[in-house]
Amino acid sequence: MKFTMANLPGFTFFLVFFLALLFHTHGTYSSDRSSNQVALFIFGDSFLDAGNNNYINTTTLDQANFWPYGITYFNFPTGRFSDGRLVSDFIAEYANLPLIPPFMEPGNIQYNSGVNFASGGAGALVETFQGSVISLETQAINFNKVVTRLRDKLGSSEAENLISTAVYMFSIGTNDYLSPFLTASDFLNFPSHSEYVGTVIGNLSSIIQRIYNGGARKFVFMNVPPLGSLPGTKIIQSERNDSYLHELSSLATLHNKALSMILLQLEKQLKDFKYSLYDFNADVTQMMNQPLKYGLKEGKSACCGWGAFRGKYNCGGKRGDKRFELCEKPNEYLYWDSYHLTESAYKQIAFRMWNYRRSNSHTLGPYTIRNLFQAS
Ligand SMILES: *[C@@H]1O[C@H](CO)[C@@H](O)[C@H](O)[C@H]1NC(C)=O
Ligand SMILES: *[C@@H]1O[C@H](CO)[C@@H](O)[C@H](O)[C@H]1NC(C)=O
Ligand SMILES: *[C@@H]1O[C@H](CO)[C@@H](O)[C@H](O)[C@H]1NC(C)=O
Repeated sequence: MKFTMANLPGFTFFLVFFLALLFHTHGTYSSDRSSNQVALFIFGDSFLDAGNNNYINTTTLDQANFWPYGITYFNFPTGRFSDGRLVSDFIAEYANLPLIPPFMEPGNIQYNSGVNFASGGAGALVETFQGSVISLETQAINFNKVVTRLRDKLGSSEAENLISTAVYMFSIGTNDYLSPFLTASDFLNFPSHSEYVGTVIGNLSSIIQRIYNGGARKFVFMNVPPLGSLPGTKIIQSERNDSYLHELSSLATLHNKALSMILLQLEKQLKDFKYSLYDFNADVTQMMNQPLKYGLKEGKSACCGWGAFRGKYNCGGKRGDKRFELCEKPNEYLYWDSYHLTESAYKQIAFRMWNYRRSNSHTLGPYTIRNLFQAS
């Protein structure tokens, strides 16, 4: 199938659905917090953004609020960078929570089940896609605003209880490495890889501590995927020097090693700090190499995009070039667009995160996400 300009009747249809959801969400979130509910707060990038970037001054490069995003599950584009739900949506479901609302969504949002602060394109560094995204630092500031509002609403002891029992989920780092890769012509002459990774991890660590100081105790991290193997970076291989992809993948590996080390350190330093680290990199790599084993047919090409591996980041035809292709069955693909996964991939990742089995586990921390929801 090929698409050119947006199809107008279709778009109106999605708009109607979008309005319907707005009313629906306001109904869903008005219920009071049940005393044993553990909230979920979400931070990071497009792997977890549920629509915050719909409300900021940015470009379509950092947005996914247009067709065909959302076609598989919501039937309209929510702003999620997928055809349907994200890992965090499935985790919320496992934890008996409703869909966690985006912080930026206008209206009187209840924060009792948690809030989603994630922003597509964001990194741990303020410089990463600066001006087009909500940086992790700003996300932490927004979290502090929510803490203040919860104290005003619930009183400090109930607010503190909600905050300290809640789970804090992060996906961050990918854009700190993609941003220089996509923009700098001298990527290979990058200062020093270990120095750059140190800066990214240093900033991440200080933001984690800031959120901890706000009362957070239970943390979940997804590490960064194999950056040199994404359809969106592989398509650039033909245009540029091969070494770029190796550099990118080795940066991801270095980052992931440094991340597991800093978490061990934080666990020693910060009283009651608990974490679970999910090896997203290994999981994506295995699904990519053996898609059939995971019930998928295509592990290398994206469902939606253009060119080699459908790696051109133009799903929806709103990012410059209007030409793009859309596969017939997104649920047979690992990659939805050139950088993001399909709902069917996110669904099984969430299943593996939640239903930990030692034999095939990608959980690296001392706790599983399920333990963290169940711990008091
Ligand atoms: C949005 O950003 C553009 C480019 O940075 C700027 O020219 C414009 O004034 C901004 N609009 C608003 C409403 O802030
Ligand atoms: C955070 O990043 C900035 C660059 O954005 C860097 O100058 C600073 O040293 C980093 N901080 C830490 C603690 O690594
Ligand atoms: C690619 O870059 C590396 C490192 O700068 C260089 O040694 C190599 O000759 C380059 N290869 C091509 C084909 O330009």
